[in-house]
Amino acid sequence: MSVKAAPVEQIDQLRDRIRYHEHRYFVLDDPEIADRDFDELVRQLRQLEAGHPELVTSDSPTQRAGGKPGQGLIAVEHSLPMLSLDNAYAESELLDFDRRVQESAAGRQAGFICELKIDGLSLALTFEDGSLVRGVTRGDGLQGEDVTANVRTIRSVPLYVPALRREGQGGVEVRGEVFLSLASFQKLNRERELHGESLFANPRNAAAGTLRTLDPGIVAGRNLDFFVYQALVDGRVPRRDHSEVLEWLKEAGFKVNPHWKRCASVREVVDFCQVWETRREELSYEIDGVVVKVDSILLQQDMGETSKFPRWAVAYKFRARQATTVVNDIQVQVGRTGALTPVALLEPVRLAGSTISRATLHNLDEIARLGIKIGDTVWVEKGGDVIPKVVKVVEHLRPPEARDFAMPHQCPVCQGEVFRAEDEAVLRCINLTCPAKPRETLLHFSSRRALRIEGLGEALVSQLLEKGLVRDPSDLYALKLEDLIGLERMGPKSAANLLAQIEASKRRGLSQVIFGLGIRHVGERTAMVLARHFGALENVSRATPESLESVFEVGPAVAESVRRFFTQSGNLRIVEKLRLAGLNLEERHAESAPTDLQGQQVVVTGRLATLTREEASRMITLRGGRVTAAVSKKTSFVVAGEDAGGKLVRARQLGVAVMDETKFRRLLNRQ
Ligand code: IVH
Repeated sequence: MSVKAAPVEQIDQLRDRIRYHEHRYFVLDDPEIADRDFDELVRQLRQLEAGHPELVTSDSPTQRAGGKPGQGLIAVEHSLPMLSLDNAYAESELLDFDRRVQESAAGRQAGFICELKIDGLSLALTFEDGSLVRGVTRGDGLQGEDVTANVRTIRSVPLYVPALRREGQGGVEVRGEVFLSLASFQKLNRERELHGESLFANPRNAAAGTLRTLDPGIVAGRNLDFFVYQALVDGRVPRRDHSEVLEWLKEAGFKVNPHWKRCASVREVVDFCQVWETRREELSYEIDGVVVKVDSILLQQDMGETSKFPRWAVAYKFRARQATTVVNDIQVQVGRTGALTPVALLEPVRLAGSTISRATLHNLDEIARLGIKIGDTVWVEKGGDVIPKVVKVVEHLRPPEARDFAMPHQCPVCQGEVFRAEDEAVLRCINLTCPAKPRETLLHFSSRRALRIEGLGEALVSQLLEKGLVRDPSDLYALKLEDLIGLERMGPKSAANLLAQIEASKRRGLSQVIFGLGIRHVGERTAMVLARHFGALENVSRATPESLESVFEVGPAVAESVRRFFTQSGNLRIVEKLRLAGLNLEERHAESAPTDLQGQQVVVTGRLATLTREEASRMITLRGGRVTAAVSKKTSFVVAGEDAGGKLVRARQLGVAVMDETKFRRLLNRQ
């Protein structure tokens, strides 16, 4: 690039180069340059744009995750309904479909296009003058939700498509499927597990949940991906055949799934479906069938559509992935929360491309529901979910020696007490020092909302445990510099930083300590209520069930769980060690009015200057309020920041109180 080029040209050239490499990397999966060199280009562009803010456009590659958390999702009507597909479950139904197609074709050549049916959720993107302006979910087909800010973070979605610049008066709409690769799904669930968050059942749920998240920053970190399979220019299909549309979309720079095929006859269609039913395991993302479409757009138009489905396409759905095998034994596994999970040990069986030798039985209720005995022959299924499950017992194959399974009365790992809460189906080991739990206990203890020990991540905790340097959270405070140096990727500087972080954690509040102990049912808010009521950890640990229950917001389940926690000698030892280490176990500033928003429903909308939406919501929840997405007559008040839109209007219409950020801050500071 010429040194003398004007900034506007330099910026243009850099953007072109970055777009080119983004396309190679995220769409074609075939990068030409090293990540570092790519990052350098982006850095240069950022620098230039920082010097010339007037040249920043929304389709610049630097503007992917620039958005702040949104105010809720806005409903948008689709230009043309987003239809669903009729299903076919057997070859005969594909033959029926072919018959209908041939009838409409009335002697004309009628070819098919077979595509993989990606197991995600459909999304419509609008481009105006080549730039992405809107992304809307399918919703009910007529109306979806505007998720533009989130879609902009998907790296395989181009923000600017030169080929679309001159297409259409009213813009170009491309439709396709958002999905999460299996690897990204597994990574996401691992992280959620570490943070004690509920797990997504399968990649599709995870993609759907992610796309509807209000914080584009979170979406950006989750690696959503997008395959395009449809295009509309001014409401019309821009080519004569669907296959040409796919080629055109690919040429334009969109990510089109490469495994589509033109089939001249239904025989070939059936073959394609059968081949992919077995080959699905080779893919790095989930598919749940094959979509068969008539290639000719003219014939598509002739066939038309019902109110729900196009008549020119059908979705061939794969069979559930099931197999039968024998339960050799049932073992009990202790999970991170101490939950005892019965697991069926199976005679290894091939199922959907992998060998299965274990399946979860969840809990005793599930065992009773299935009526399963050790020795039984069972059906196992691998759904979209990662863990295979037992779906049914084949009773007539039960051998005479089949025996019942009984849950142990002690934790199989530490022989400690197990306990079944009244409202739960699971048994739990409540011993904090049970060897099955230290890793997760430590990670929870040091997590952001608890003692916030930055830098103490998964890898480090594992090393500390393996080397025997810590066993429980209280051991962290005895760590010395020489213990840490010598661990993998730990130089003197990072070791000193970590020690400083550990030291700083001693000054967190009592409620963070209570939360950090990971007592069942004691979330952040309950921890705060307990801290404020009892004023010292010592008092909490000695509290009787009655005095615990007398605390506003503490119900019998919480009271019982807290009491049990502090009856375990191992747990009491840890608390004592934390006290000796100098942690703050007393509530220093016993503030009043912790629950002044009790029973109130609050909506936060617009951009706040000093808080993220998540922070504002947390503050409301911590004071007893409930944050809801939509404004209704039940809304107590609306906190409205800058650029508040529809929700503010609705609040005004309904006469719901509205406060600006300053007033909201004042409310929070009120004691
Ligand atoms: S075409 C009018 N092609 O399957 C035709 N859909 O069960 C619209 N899907 O809502 C859809 N992969 O979310 C089409 N290659 C593909 C697809 C696909 C996945 C989804 C889509 C649709 C659902 C219908």
